[in-house]
Amino acid sequence: MCGIIGYAGHRPAVPVIVEGLKRLEYRGYDSAGVAFIQHKAMHVIRAEGKLSELECRLNGCEVFHATTGLGHTRWATHGLPVERNAHPHRDPGGRLVLVHNGIIENYLPLKEQLLKKGRTFQSETDSEVLVQLIAELWTPDISLLQAFSEALKHVDGTYAVALLNMDDPNRIWAARKSSPLLLGVGVGENFVASDIPAFLGYTRDVVFLEDNELVELSPMDWQVYDTATLEPLEKEIHHITWDFQAAQKGGYRHFMLKEIFEQPTVISNCLAGRLDAKNRTVSLPELDNLDIPEQLQIVACGTSYHAGLWGQYLLESWAGIPVRVEIASEFRYRSPIFKPTDMILAISQSGETADTLAGMRLAKEHGVPVLGLCNVVGSSVAREAASVIHTQAGPEISVASTKAMCSQLVLLTLLALYWGRRKQTLPQHVESSVIAGLLSLPQILESELPRMRSTAQELIPEYSTARSFFYLGRGLAFPLALEGALKLKEISYIHAEGYAAGEMKHGPIALIEPEFPTFALALNDELLSKTISNLVEVQARNGKIISLCHPGFGLDVEHAWEIPQVYGPLNTFLALPALQLFAYEMAVYLGKDVDQPRNLAKSVTVE
Ligand code: F6R
Repeated sequence: MCGIIGYAGHRPAVPVIVEGLKRLEYRGYDSAGVAFIQHKAMHVIRAEGKLSELECRLNGCEVFHATTGLGHTRWATHGLPVERNAHPHRDPGGRLVLVHNGIIENYLPLKEQLLKKGRTFQSETDSEVLVQLIAELWTPDISLLQAFSEALKHVDGTYAVALLNMDDPNRIWAARKSSPLLLGVGVGENFVASDIPAFLGYTRDVVFLEDNELVELSPMDWQVYDTATLEPLEKEIHHITWDFQAAQKGGYRHFMLKEIFEQPTVISNCLAGRLDAKNRTVSLPELDNLDIPEQLQIVACGTSYHAGLWGQYLLESWAGIPVRVEIASEFRYRSPIFKPTDMILAISQSGETADTLAGMRLAKEHGVPVLGLCNVVGSSVAREAASVIHTQAGPEISVASTKAMCSQLVLLTLLALYWGRRKQTLPQHVESSVIAGLLSLPQILESELPRMRSTAQELIPEYSTARSFFYLGRGLAFPLALEGALKLKEISYIHAEGYAAGEMKHGPIALIEPEFPTFALALNDELLSKTISNLVEVQARNGKIISLCHPGFGLDVEHAWEIPQVYGPLNTFLALPALQLFAYEMAVYLGKDVDQPRNLAKSVTVE
């Protein structure tokens, strides 16, 4: 939450920073700001609201020539989303400015100490406390680097922070602890940012900063230090292979739509290199040296949690591994029981979700191995897990996750096949059928997606006045029902509840009435007759139903939305985009901001 960028180079910094902020805006969009030094004066320009507000403000200003600067896009934690709380924050002397992503947990006692020393504050933020603390500790006999390091020793909490000093206008200092921060290494220009797309247009050479590392950068140089000791550290430069186009809208109206339509390619990419030469068995070499767990505990949040719930069904039935699926924010504060033969599977698109990371760390403290299922290479989950399976979805920019879930489901399918074969619990013919089915999916999905979108568009006007929706499913369709409801809530702001169809009669059915429609996942599986019975119960209470179903679905409902039938669990990969497109088209129809829904941010790096 919050995106930061720092640029030290040879180009005018403000346009580079604003462009970078556009690629980080998914991380928060309550306010934005930039800082740079020009004509020996520190300029800080900030605006409440989306980045476009800041751009309007910048357009009214003179042309800026500064070639070094900082930028920030905010998801408010401490203090209202108003201009005085927008970053960058400066010390009252005006020599230092700072941008911060994270939470300084002990900011109140620190603020009290600084108030006693006569300092005054302009904002309610924890971040302003940090810049003032650095300024307080920066005495004539120590360098800014030392003062920065010293200040960070007093801080509890999380931060990715970058600092600019008026007396040294071409240099930036930045540090991280439990919030993402990367160094982009260019030619005659260097960057720090919360995420790679912020500088992908300029360089693909990246240094992944670790917790408790601090970097000093200028246009020609960079050096990483241990934050506490200031001992210089050797760091490896990684070359990113994503292309810049992957982080652009590419002609689509919204990132979300583009990412939904990318799912056929995502499936192909997830399979590439993960099947043996003859496409008969799954190969996951990253797991060959890990023991098969006796019990798997999946820890994740939001959509990734739903993917985990879905994976549970396959891992239990194909690999015979007992699986528990845990909401990370609950798991981290319970006293979970770990056995040495357990394994934790942390699922996270971003690899930076604070609760998921805390859950993994808890397991590690108990000596339990952690496997990561993660999309972002070099993210905290990827680095802290004993082993990691990368999901190959490419950059996901839309706040509402779509293609990342698709990639997680492919990898969970492969994982269940892989462990099932190693444990000899899975008949060979099932593995062959699933692999053949997976290989044919991209083409089927590719041709089906435009039709699905049209169906969603046709349905929306009739349902757009509903204030609440049920999403019902059983078996593998139950996590999909949860996901369909989450998508609708988060981007169209229509209340939706995902329920196990068989659980309806235990209470929620009381809500059914003609204005409270049900979106039923009624796919042709071994539970279909049971699902149909539950839908009949809904109809008996005058509930309207949209059924996502296969040809031959027997029940007469208001709208039977037919999708082609493929092999067994793989039907999920055709149902998921239908749910996503229904939510997407609803949000578009209602005029909502699809890619940046209110109150949300892409990567939830706070508790
Ligand atoms: C919903 C959504 C969130 C994320 C959740 C976990 O569309 O995007 O629910 O799934 O915040 O994020 P990751 O997977 O990055 O850990």
